[in-house]
Amino acid sequence: MSRYLISLRNVEKVYPPKYRALKDLSVDIKQGEFIFVTGVSGAGKSTLLKLLFGAEYPNRGDVVISGLSTAGASRRDIRMLRRHVGVVFQDYRLLRTHTVLENVAFALELSSVQKKARYRVSFRLLSALGLGDKANSYPQELSGGEQQRVAIARALVNRPAIVLADEPTGNLDPDMSRVVFDVLEDINRAGATVIVASHDIDILRERNRRTLLLKDGKIVGDFANYLQSEQP
Ligand SMILES: Nc1ncnc2c1ncn2[C@@H]1O[C@H](COP(=O)(O)OP(=O)(O)O)[C@@H](O)[C@H]1O
Ligand SMILES: [Mg+2]
Repeated sequence: MSRYLISLRNVEKVYPPKYRALKDLSVDIKQGEFIFVTGVSGAGKSTLLKLLFGAEYPNRGDVVISGLSTAGASRRDIRMLRRHVGVVFQDYRLLRTHTVLENVAFALELSSVQKKARYRVSFRLLSALGLGDKANSYPQELSGGEQQRVAIARALVNRPAIVLADEPTGNLDPDMSRVVFDVLEDINRAGATVIVASHDIDILRERNRRTLLLKDGKIVGDFANYLQSEQP
């Protein structure tokens, strides 16, 4: 197995009919890294994240995750991969017919954790994200920022090896953004590889992590930390 958890090799992604959203992208990400993907709207951040859990496939090049090339992977392989990847989508995709607590606990359904423990663990994480008092509400009763945090809890509750978060604080005020990133850093310290797409400069500066800068579907910078990207 390669020493990189995630490896993109000359990846090109074309959306039909012929829009090239990613062009000849190559990057390696080690296990346990915490990394930001930034760039203006349309740069290709979401597309890059989608390639990392098999929601999209490259038209050229290769996306390899834990030794598995997604292009050649079977449906079953992709299903197994997704069990180890927690994803926070830009739209939250919560189940309207389920309470907040159920939405989060649902992510543990495939695990061996007993039902009572599933709810306990889910409630604890919701509380850490400031949502303890919303556990029995329905998603549509929550504000955008609250729904966003439910989506984050759902993505993290089964302690995935890889966390992909697409603009996870887009709807949050600075205090709540901080809470969310503290939780992401906790799970990163516990061993998860965390990849965050964000164009929130304040967050990027504050967390000062490795930063990939995308522009027009290309990586135009790969900085060991964000402040380096601001050097003249
Ligand atoms: N499903 C799609 N079909 C066609 N074009 C798309 C699709 N998804 C994204 N794009 C285009 O690809 C480019 C990159 O999009 P995206 O990865 O969402 O960028 P970002 O997340 O950085 O804003 C944009 O120009 C967008 O319009
Ligand atoms: Mg996006």
